[in-house]
Amino acid sequence: MPEFDSRGTFQKAANEYTKIQDAFPEVIRDPLLADMAVKEGDRILDLPCGTGDAIVRAAKLAGPTGHALAIDISPSMIEEAKESAEAAGVKNIQFVVENMDEAQFDAAAYDIVVSANGPFFASDLKAFLVKMWGAVKPGGKLVLMTLGRNFLTPISGVFLDLAQNKTEDLRISIPWRVTEDILFLRTLLEEVTNKQRVKITHRDVVMDYKTADGGWNLLMGTAFRGYTLEMSAQNQAEIEAEMKEWMQTNRVFSATCSFNNIVVTKDDA
Ligand SMILES: C[S@@+](CC[C@H](N)C(=O)[O-])C[C@H]1O[C@@H](n2cnc3c(N)ncnc32)[C@H](O)[C@@H]1O
Repeated sequence: MPEFDSRGTFQKAANEYTKIQDAFPEVIRDPLLADMAVKEGDRILDLPCGTGDAIVRAAKLAGPTGHALAIDISPSMIEEAKESAEAAGVKNIQFVVENMDEAQFDAAAYDIVVSANGPFFASDLKAFLVKMWGAVKPGGKLVLMTLGRNFLTPISGVFLDLAQNKTEDLRISIPWRVTEDILFLRTLLEEVTNKQRVKITHRDVVMDYKTADGGWNLLMGTAFRGYTLEMSAQNQAEIEAEMKEWMQTNRVFSATCSFNNIVVTKDDA
């Protein structure tokens, strides 16, 4: 499978990504914050933090005695996150632009270590999880969210068919497939955490985007934006028009995403 250009992709999607998070808080933000269950004074690590949708709220809940370290490879995603922290008056987050493969942080130092829709970008998933688990304090927890089998079904499939027909040399890479399987995740996490109890909740979420424009904007807030921007201007205009026509003709104004929400608590020392 070709390598996925995550930095480039999210650099271009940052603004749309923020809008999607605001339009659909029940998809990522709310369940993530519920699993994090932040307490005052918590120290939190978020990698990758994206546009900061969850970490800004989490840091606010942790209050002035709490602290967050938020890391992402994309400067524009971090820029959005900084703006959102500033708008919310949240000052206890340190933002760092860094590749998750090289990111450094203190061991056994965080009450909550979170990685939502990001672990699959690590070049070595197990090594990444070992490092994240190592950052959890005794009594603290690792909170993960990964995509399940559905990713904007059915419009993602229609988009990919159209895109491949237009651009013969389009090199599609779908890294999030790696962590869609619950059994694989459970086995890997039991190994990484030395057989701690791994709680996994699977969710299918229907996203009602209501109009063809809404559906197109949803696609463009994801990795598919990168593929679209690689096309000629004419192909970009065509694929947008064809996607919207497909949604109108078939009356498809919602898409399904599945997620695995995972919590592993570390035994007290
Ligand atoms: C789908 S977003 C998830 C963001 C956020 N955690 C959320 O759930 O909304 C994926 C993020 O991973 C970041 N990312 C991808 N590869 C990365 C890497 N190697 N190191 C650090 N961040 C990376 C992207 O820049 C993007 O912000």
